[in-house]
Amino acid sequence: MRRSVDSLSNQMTMSKQKSKLAYVCAECGADYSKWSGQCLQCKAWNSIREIRLETARSPRVALHNGYTGLRNEVHYLSDVDAEKIVRVSSGMNEFDRVLGGGFVPGSVVLLSGDPGSGKSTILLQTLANAAEDRPVLYVSGEESLEQIAGRARRIRLPVQKLRMLGETSVERVCESADKERPEILVIDSIQVMFCENIDSVPGGVAQVRESAALLTQYAKRTGLILLLVGHVTKDQTVAGPMTLSHIVDAQIMLSSTEDARYRILRATKNRFGAVNEIGLFAMSDAGLKEVRNPSAMFLSRVEPPGPGSVVSVLWEGTRPLLVEIQSLVVESQHGNPRRLGVGVDQNRIAMLLAVLTRHGGLLTSDQDVFVNCVGGIRVTETSADLAMVLSIVSSLQNSVIPRDVFVFGEIGLSGEIRPVANGEIRINEALKHGFKRAIVPTGNVPKNLVGKIDIVGVNRLTDAINVL
Ligand code: TYD
Ligand code: MG
Repeated sequence: MRRSVDSLSNQMTMSKQKSKLAYVCAECGADYSKWSGQCLQCKAWNSIREIRLETARSPRVALHNGYTGLRNEVHYLSDVDAEKIVRVSSGMNEFDRVLGGGFVPGSVVLLSGDPGSGKSTILLQTLANAAEDRPVLYVSGEESLEQIAGRARRIRLPVQKLRMLGETSVERVCESADKERPEILVIDSIQVMFCENIDSVPGGVAQVRESAALLTQYAKRTGLILLLVGHVTKDQTVAGPMTLSHIVDAQIMLSSTEDARYRILRATKNRFGAVNEIGLFAMSDAGLKEVRNPSAMFLSRVEPPGPGSVVSVLWEGTRPLLVEIQSLVVESQHGNPRRLGVGVDQNRIAMLLAVLTRHGGLLTSDQDVFVNCVGGIRVTETSADLAMVLSIVSSLQNSVIPRDVFVFGEIGLSGEIRPVANGEIRINEALKHGFKRAIVPTGNVPKNLVGKIDIVGVNRLTDAINVL
């Protein structure tokens, strides 16, 4: 009897000790009960780390209340007032546009991007402007306050009311925030933050997750706007646990274009707005400047144009954007011809080539095909189909498409050209930029423009190829 009680208590101590260890993948944040060489979720090798969960030094009831930090009764959704969202402007139209109209109090925004993309710069500019109207706090754990002051002075920001804190402890940040009561709080960056009662190094999965969770709860409880800076890894995911994306309300990404002067801001998740908007900035010696008329910035300005290049009009969120699609078709040196796309979906190219063969009568099975969307823009809609195919045909036949022509339209599997949304606005945008001739789906030809500009409506792929 005595022995069995002993062994039971032994077992209990052991299981208690065991429960303090967890195994978490540093790439994707998946949890495991024991270590293994490969993560079953994201298939990364050697990414599983042993982490010691916090000891019971402090009661952490708050943690069990979810990221919002609130505990509530059950309600019918119809009884809950849908409050009208009040937005706080970032002071920059392009930033507001990506956020869905501005920051929402009590929300958490994760700003990620490559080192040097300008995350610290854009947030410093935003806060310096916001500080004129409301209390703000910029917490920097990476750069020294002197460095930041130097930058702010160089780009001539109004800094009299901008309050800064060099700190990496989450608890002490919250204490300062309690005193300062900022309406906007920036944490630059979440990877250097740590919670004092977690035994793990800053930047590790456990620390990043806990720091973000605690700060998020703080933001939800006090209704402040929390902006977290997050570093990205080579494959463009936010370093640290994926759970970070689940915690935050919006995740936005700042990336450089091919032309390193420009920066594109886009949302990959937004609980308070659409995710298809992009914001455009130029990096100058006076910080990030909004590009107010971005529609033509993705056109290459090489004169005269060569074969394989054509201009299309994309729809990005709520506005048209002129882009140049380039193709290069060369005889393949291998048995297996290559199809490569930059900023363009590879599968879409393969599909369009199949349609071109079957319904356009042009064979590319012995050719390598490369398609590029100039300037680092990603084509995510089908309206660029016709432009892609015509640029491929142009390269294949070595014929130049004149500079003043623009093209858009979706291509179906049976070679039909389908109209796309917002056709008239796209056409007007191109006309504004000096384009004079158009090849568009028949359904998109505006009646009031017939006879005024050289606009060709096409129904089938062969019609479009014959126009060239
Ligand atoms: P930074 O905001 O420090 O990037 P991040 O925080 O994303 O790492 O931006 C640094 C880069 O921006 C650096 O390469 C220099 C450039 N830059 C300018 O070109 N002009 C400027 O006025 C500023 C402040 C930075
Ligand atoms: Mg930085």
